[in-house]
Amino acid sequence: MAKIIDGKAVSAAVKEDVKKEVEALKANGVEVGLAVVIVGNNPASRVYVNNKKKACEACSINSYEYALPEETTEEELLNLVEKLNNDDSVDGILVQLPLPSQIDEHAIIAAISPEKDVDAFHAENVGKIMIGEYNFLPCTPAGVMELIHSTGVTVEGKDCVVIGRSNIVGKPMAMLLLHESGTVTICHSRTKNLADICKRADILVAAVGKADFVTADMVKEGAVVIDVGMNRREDGKLCGDVKYDEVFEKASYITPVPGGVGPMTIAMLMKNTLTAAKRKIKE
Ligand code: GUN
Repeated sequence: MAKIIDGKAVSAAVKEDVKKEVEALKANGVEVGLAVVIVGNNPASRVYVNNKKKACEACSINSYEYALPEETTEEELLNLVEKLNNDDSVDGILVQLPLPSQIDEHAIIAAISPEKDVDAFHAENVGKIMIGEYNFLPCTPAGVMELIHSTGVTVEGKDCVVIGRSNIVGKPMAMLLLHESGTVTICHSRTKNLADICKRADILVAAVGKADFVTADMVKEGAVVIDVGMNRREDGKLCGDVKYDEVFEKASYITPVPGGVGPMTIAMLMKNTLTAAKRKIKE
């Protein structure tokens, strides 16, 4: 039977530390600000953006929301990004994805100043992560590492399997596990013998986007299982990528959905925004 990794508790601790530092900066006349840009009416994005704003409040970070209509052009969004790049009260810029189809996501990410890119999606920041010399870590993989650390399990020498190869989660996740000397395998939709590979994992990270994808027969006895999935069942209930009830019996540690990785992503965003603001005191 697994121990449950409490993402809410770990994220609360991270946010508390951020808040203390933000307030210490404030006492020295330095305010910390995050601009959150949302384009269109995607309901999931609306929920995420509201949660990010709430987290800013909890951490004493100023949040500036820019809600643009669905028909916004790429040029209009680029103009806003440029304005935010040049705004000293904005330390971090987050453009919520996905964007409407008339806007090229890559062009927008490339336009965000790497120093304000608190998602760590810009190619410069991605490159820095590859060589291990980064300012920001992407929020979800960084949150997963915090959760793994909270168990006391070390990554060094462990077989780590990441299911999913997205730019946002799978690829950077693999890199962070590698930085801590894990032996890392990335699986994806074309992987052969996926179940056998997963079954070798001491640490298994599922970022597939399919409900109940990881079943108990794919999990090694005693594995640490991290579920990045956020899927909605037909009845509207949230669930992860892992068939929780049966994997719970086999894993040593497991993250629930909700209440696992989700809250960590936002906590790490707060941490990145603080990191971005510290640049001002070094200059
Ligand atoms: N959409 C889903 N996850 C994310 C994220 O981490 N950052 C941004 N900007 N958009 C997202």
